[in-house]
Amino acid sequence: GVAYLNGEFVPIAEAKISVLDWGFLHSDATYDVVHVWKRRVFRLDAHLDRFWRSAEKLHLTMPVERGKLAEILAECVVRSGLEDAYVEMILTRGISPTFSRDPRDAENQLICFSIPFVWVLPPEKHGTGLSVAVSEVQRIPPESVDPTVKNYHWLDFVTGLYDAYDRGAGSVILQDRSGNLAEGPGFNVFVVKDGTIATPDRGVLEGITRRSAIQIAAKMNIPMEERPVSSTELFAADEAFATSTAGGIIPITQANGAPVGSGHPGPITCTLAKAYWDKHS
Ligand code: PDD
Repeated sequence: GVAYLNGEFVPIAEAKISVLDWGFLHSDATYDVVHVWKRRVFRLDAHLDRFWRSAEKLHLTMPVERGKLAEILAECVVRSGLEDAYVEMILTRGISPTFSRDPRDAENQLICFSIPFVWVLPPEKHGTGLSVAVSEVQRIPPESVDPTVKNYHWLDFVTGLYDAYDRGAGSVILQDRSGNLAEGPGFNVFVVKDGTIATPDRGVLEGITRRSAIQIAAKMNIPMEERPVSSTELFAADEAFATSTAGGIIPITQANGAPVGSGHPGPITCTLAKAYWDKHS
């Protein structure tokens, strides 16, 4: 992999940040991830829009123009020599030269990197699907941190993952305060019942892949509801799936140790996943 920081491209192993960077000290940063398939960046505009929106909400100043950032990302991919890549862009608060506690004193820093593609679930396991546990751990309450800002507040996900592993699951879905499904570590969640798809619409990241799935379903005239979805609905669903830049549309076949529907990837999930990957060729 190759990283860009302090205005230079360096091998990923040499890309280091200061321990005084507020991104590290306080999770005071935002990021976004694009995936590159056969050297082509997928839905770059949507990711850049979200990155800029997140930065603005956090009062972070982007040190480069949009076109320049696109060039930096492309250069990271070319220099890393990767055909398929996971490309991350990060804007941290940076370091305050006076060590003050005033975020306005810090110099915001842009960091980008390109590494081999990272999957939520490796493609050879898509036939089996993802086994999840629905955890009692709550996703960060939306009142304290805007969930639409792509953030590094992953302590809840990490706590939830340990809970899930203890219960023999492969990943986790967190809930919101009311016991509705929120999201997983890096993915949005969908359930399918009687031919209608539903996905949580609040307290979750506005996933770019989530939006792609909604658009594909609309084109295929498959009904889709964006609304609160309870965990009971997942347990009673005919099918379920996760969406992420890191893996596309991923079947969820087990929840809390029981099969979701038939326990195999469902027909609607497979149809959407096929249409999603067809867009890449
Ligand atoms: N994560 N929810 C959370 C909390 C996420 O971090 C992500 C993405 C998603 C899915 O969003 P999108 O479809 O735009 O990738 C939902 C990235 C891929 C990551 O952290 O690796």
